Parts: sequence; C-alpha cells; structure tokens
Amino acid sequence: MRPVSIVAIVSAVPVIAFALLAAAGLAPAWAAAAGIAVTVLSGTVFALSWARDLARLTDAVRRIETGDPAPARPGPVLLGQLDLTIARVTREIAARAARLEQDRRADTMILERLPDPIAVLRADRSVSRRNRAMDTVFGDGLDAILRHPALREALDRALEKGEPSSADLAIAAPQARELRVTAVPIDPPLRDGGRVLAVLADRTREHGIERAHTDFVANVSHELRTPLASLIGFTETLLGPAEDDPPARRRFLTIMAEQGARMNRLIDDLLSLSRIEMTEHEAPSERVDLGTLIPGVIAAYGARPAGGARIEVEIAAGLPEIVADSGEIAQILRNLLDNAAKYGKPGSPIQLSARRPAPGEPVFPARPGVVLRVADQGPGIPKMHLPRVTERFYRVDKGRSRAAGGTGLGLAIVKHIVSRHRGQLAIDSEEGQGTTVQVWLPLNQPVPRAGESG
Ligand SMILES: Nc1ncnc2c1ncn2[C@@H]1O[C@H](COP(=O)(O)OP(=O)(O)O)[C@@H](O)[C@H]1O
Ligand SMILES: [Mg+2]
Repeated sequence: MRPVSIVAIVSAVPVIAFALLAAAGLAPAWAAAAGIAVTVLSGTVFALSWARDLARLTDAVRRIETGDPAPARPGPVLLGQLDLTIARVTREIAARAARLEQDRRADTMILERLPDPIAVLRADRSVSRRNRAMDTVFGDGLDAILRHPALREALDRALEKGEPSSADLAIAAPQARELRVTAVPIDPPLRDGGRVLAVLADRTREHGIERAHTDFVANVSHELRTPLASLIGFTETLLGPAEDDPPARRRFLTIMAEQGARMNRLIDDLLSLSRIEMTEHEAPSERVDLGTLIPGVIAAYGARPAGGARIEVEIAAGLPEIVADSGEIAQILRNLLDNAAKYGKPGSPIQLSARRPAPGEPVFPARPGVVLRVADQGPGIPKMHLPRVTERFYRVDKGRSRAAGGTGLGLAIVKHIVSRHRGQLAIDSEEGQGTTVQVWLPLNQPVPRAGESG
C-alpha cells in the first residue's frame, strides 16, 4: 500500500471531525486547522515508518525463500518483534538446510567409498546412481548385467517382499566373473526415484580358491590311488598265484618298490609345498654364497642317474652373497636340473649359471639381484602350456612325466620358493630348441613396512 493512501485512511476521520466541528462553530477555525495539521503530520510519519517496515518484512520473507540469512539490522519501530522472529526463522531454516546438505554429502561419500560396486535403481530398473567401484569394475557393462535374468528376479523379489534378496550369477563380459548380487529395497523411495540398491560383490577369487582346494584334494587322491592300487594288486598276486614263481616274484617286487618310491616322492613334494606355503610370509634371513652352494648341489646331484646328462656350470666372479634360505635355493636348483635332465635332449649338456643381471635387462626388476639360469636343449614346452606349467600337477605329457618319476609338483614348489624370496620366475621355451628357466633373486630382502604381513 502506498504511503499516500495510508495517510488518507489514517487521517480521514479526525480531519473530517475537525472540519465538521469548525463548520458547526463548536471549535474555533484556527484550532480545527491546527488539529488537521497535527493529524496529517502524524499520519504521514506513521505511514512512512509503516511503509519502511513493510519493505523490510518483504525483504525478510524473500530471504527465507532464497535461504539467505537475514542481516542483523536495527529493529523497525512498529513491527520490530515480527521482523526479529522472521530473522530467527530464516537462520533456523538455513541451518537445517546446511545440516541436510551435510547428511546428503555423507550419504553420497559412503556410497562412493564402499569397496563393492553399488547401483541405485528406479522402479523401472534404470540406474539413478552408481558408485566409483561400479565404474571401475564394470564400466559400461552394467546395463548388460542388469538384464541378467537371475539379477532381475532378485530385484523383483526384493521389491515384492520389501526385504533384501540375493542371487549368484556368472558373467562373461567385460571379463569372466562370478558375482553375488544383493538387492536391498529402499523404503521410502529416494527423491530421485531410487527404489532398490543393487550390490554386486565379486566372488571370482573366493570361488577360484574353493575350486583349487577341491581340485587339489581330488588330484592328490588320484595321484596316490594309482600306485596304491598297483601295490595292492601285486601283493595279492604274490600271496596267491605267484607264490611259488621266484622270477615273477622278483619282477613284481621290483615294480612294487618303484611304486612305493613314487608315493614317497609325492609325499615328500607335498610336504615341501605345504612347508613353503606356511613360511611364505616370513622373509628368509640366511646369508647364502652361491659360489659355495651351487657346487655342493652339483656334487650331491652327480650321484643321480638323470639320463647321465653333463652339467656345464658357470658362476660369475665376485658374485655377492644373497639373503635367502639355502635349503630352498638348493631345492630350486634340484627341481630345475631334474626337469632339464628328464625332458632335455639325451646326451646334450645342461647349462647352469649364476650372474648379476645386465643393467636394464627388461625381464627383471631394476633392484640389485642375481639370476640363476638352467637351460636344456630338449623339445621345449609348447606355448599354450607355458602359462600353466607352474600349476600343481600340471604336466604337458602326463605319461612321460610319470615314467620319468615326476610328481607334477616340481615347478609349483619352485614358484612358491621364488615368491617367498620376493623374486621373479621366467620360463622361456622354443619348441624344438629347448627350455630356459631363470630365477631372479633380490640381494637383500625388503624390510617389511609396519602393518604389512610378511
Ligand atoms: N625343461 C623342460 N622341458 C620340457 N618340459 C618341461 C621342462 N620342465 C618342465 N616341463 C613340463 O612342465 C611339467 C611340470 O613340471 P614339474 O612341475 O617339474 O613336474 P614334473 O617334472 O614332476 O612332471 C612337466 O611335466 C613337463 O611337461
Ligand atoms: Mg619336475
């Protein structure tokens, strides 16, 4: 309302009264004029301060709308209390908005930082939000996963029953994975339409470990059963039909001794493997001079037949001592020499060398270390088998390995020893040309950092 109208409204009645009094002769004209002047003057003052207060209130209300806290100003004359209340309400609303924003940011941060991939889905299964882990792990592949029937069923169940529901699924792209999906309904729904949370936990590794464990037990049982069956069979034959046949008895007893030795080797290798696995997190601490250790291994090895292979040894001069476990390093050498002798070319020499790697040799780490190398000139390992030969019981040619007394554990043991020594294993093979196995070992074991296991 404009100030002029307020003056008119406020002053109208007294002014008319004064005018009537003067006209009726009940008051002197000068007194009526003075009364009218005072009325109009005070009306104007009132109207101006009223207008100023209204402007200030309008401003305060606008500030509530924009969330702008009201500035502390001297209170107005007429509506002081109301103005103060509005200022307080404005500040309170602003504080609440700040708290809400803080909560919202905390929620977003929690979702973002959770290690499992998570997406928030609307009722139509479109994605309203996804966290960083989801982007890193699945990238653009989420849409395809969301179409998986098992996942859709879990989402339907969660929404229908109003409680979390899980499903296991295997996906092939972008990478073969096994996932455990948990759908958690959101009630009440989020403002952006989010109705259900989908948590995609990657279980590939755990399932792999479980499978490896089951496979291992099955493999060990199988490896033991074969010689055991033959021992039982020959024992029965010796007790029965061959009882009075000395030549046959001799032949059977020879085979039984071989089978017994085979079981023995298998148990030895299994025990070695489990011992190394148990200590894999403890860094070795012996000082080992390869210049002394290698000739010792060769001397003990020389007694074995191993196809009568000649071993050419080359130990670089001035090789520094390494921090290692001498028994385990000797075992690496024995296992590699065994393989070179068993699978190498009969009559051709086996090369064994120890040296410092050349600076910048790309296969090995840049840290100070030494390289052990065992090379043969045998038929080699076909490329497709190379990545798997260090797996337990993996053999390229099962029959040949068995015939040569192999357990299929030699390279698995080497791999674990190298890993315990924080070293690196490189197997190169050219079909028809031979096989070269190199083991890089660090000069010093890294000092474990606080909180690091092993
Ligand atoms: N020097 C080599 N030349 C050819 N094949 C090899 C050589 N070393 C290992 N292999 C292959 O890798 C497989 C696994 O080796 P290993 O773990 O030592 O088991 P094992 O010798 O008992 O069979 C062998 O069965 C063989 O097929
Ligand atoms: Mg072997």
